[in-house]
Order: sequence, then structure tokens, then C-alpha cells
Amino acid sequence: MAITAVLLLSSLGFLAITAQAQNCSRPPKGENMDLKGNDILLTSFPDGTTVTFACNTGYESAGGSPRITCTAGSWSSLGLKCQRKNCGPVGEVENGHIEYRPGTEFGDTAVLICDIGHMPVGGGKLTCGTQGWMGRLPVCEVTQCESPPVVQDGSFSPNREVYDYKDTIVYTCKSGYTRNGSRQLHCSDDGTFKPEPPKCIKVECEDPEISFGQLSSGARPPYGYLSTVTLQCNAGYTMIGSATVMCELNGQWSPGLPQCIRKIWIS
Ligand SMILES: *[C@@H]1O[C@H](CO)[C@@H](O)[C@H](O)[C@H]1NC(C)=O
Ligand SMILES: *[C@@H]1O[C@H](CO)[C@@H](O)[C@H](O)[C@H]1NC(C)=O
Repeated sequence: MAITAVLLLSSLGFLAITAQAQNCSRPPKGENMDLKGNDILLTSFPDGTTVTFACNTGYESAGGSPRITCTAGSWSSLGLKCQRKNCGPVGEVENGHIEYRPGTEFGDTAVLICDIGHMPVGGGKLTCGTQGWMGRLPVCEVTQCESPPVVQDGSFSPNREVYDYKDTIVYTCKSGYTRNGSRQLHCSDDGTFKPEPPKCIKVECEDPEISFGQLSSGARPPYGYLSTVTLQCNAGYTMIGSATVMCELNGQWSPGLPQCIRKIWIS
């Protein structure tokens, strides 16, 4: 080696020596990559040095050698290519599907969307990291509802610990109370009963008293929901309005109570 150097020295002269001894300056930065380890701190690299590149966080090698060598002041060409890390599809899930937000690359997330009638249980979303998908995915279980809404002065049946998706419950008001609202509720896709529960209200209409008239037939007090009575005017009076009225949910007679007015004699 020494002999070769001496020969080169004598035949090529001074230029050859400087070229051979020349250090390399810091190699150009590649796309989405950087020098590995402490080399990143150096600005001058002796002849013959080999340095290694590594892809930046979130990127992975798409092939090519990550090493270059300094020879006579210049670096060999770099083969390494870095592409954004892609975690690929998550895989099969039961009773649902995966939604990628927005894709399967580094930093993206994967969310489990359960089929109708199913709910995600446990786990959370996945994030694409350097080592692949991170996190634990929930499982899609059949939707269940618990504890139906309690209605004052009313009850529901059947009474169970849990109800499956689409199961229905039926509300009944206790005697003397009237239901305002839905009779049936069902266990909906979000695990709650729908629609709103009914209310049980005590409907009581006042005695249907009118001036110059009285009750002629119909229900007896107390006047509950849908009680119907018929009124009549005293002799010499004529009725304006409906003779028959019904007790409504709001505790009012419907249509309103009639009026009795004195008959007018046209002579
Ligand atoms: C090359 O680098 C080495 C070590 O960094 C240094 O000692 C030497 O003086 C440098 N040579 C030239 C010609 O710059
Ligand atoms: C019955 O329910 C409806 C809807 O919630 C409500 O608007 C109405 O006031 C209720 N009626 C009575 C008499 O409570």
C-alpha cells in the first residue's frame, strides 16, 4: 500500500495527494431522513468514513442501502428511500367495520364503527405509530339497554335486568291516572329507551255547572278522562254550544260548556 502511494505520488504529483487526504464535509440531507447517531453532530468526515442514514420518525425504508462512504472528498451516492410509515389495514372485525381517519399512515387513526344494533365495548381508537397500529380496539357487542325510565304513578313491563336492542316495554298508569305520551318504548341503537316515556296524570274536570241549566245525563263525578255528560237549559232558555261535553286530558270540558240564554219572543 505504501509502495503504491509512493508510486502514485511520484507519477501523479501533488494533486493526487491532496485529493486522497481530503475530508468530506457533512453529506447532503436526504428526504425524510437524517444521519444516524453521533454523526449528525460532525461537520467533517475523514477519507474512508462510512456513515449511515436512518428514516425520520414516521417514515420507513422503501429499500436502498442506507450507507455512503467518503472517498477522496466526496460521498458515494445514497440508495436509501424513505416513505411515510403505512400501517396497512387493521384486519377483520365482527359486527362492524373500521373507519380510517384519514388513512392508514403514520399518525392516522382507525376507529371501530359497529353495525346497527351493536355497540363498541372496551378499547378505543388505534393510532398508526412507528411499530404499527397502537392501542386496543373495542369489540362490537349486541346493544343492550338497562333501567327503563321510571314514571311517577305508572309502571312498565316486562321488568328485566337488561333488554336487547329492539326489545319493547309497555307503560301503564295506575288506576285513576291517564297516560299522556307513548305507551311503548323500545331499546334503541344507542342503548337508551326511545321515545320519551309517557306521563301519568290525574285528570279531573270540575262539575259541569252552567247558569240557567243543569246536567241531564251522562257520567257521575268524579269526572275523569273521557267522562262525558249532557246538559240542558231550563225552560225558557235556549242553548248555545254543544249539549254534550267530554273531559279532556288537560282537565277541561271539550268543547267548552254551553251557555243558556233567555229565549227572545218576537211579537
Ligand atoms: C480531516 O479530519 C480529521 C479528523 O476530523 C482531521 O484531524 C484532519 O486534519 C482533517 N484533514 C483535512 C485535510 O482537513
Ligand atoms: C301531554 O304531553 C304533551 C307532550 O309532552 C304536552 O305538550 C301536553 O301539555 C301534555 N298534556 C297534559 C295535560 O299534561
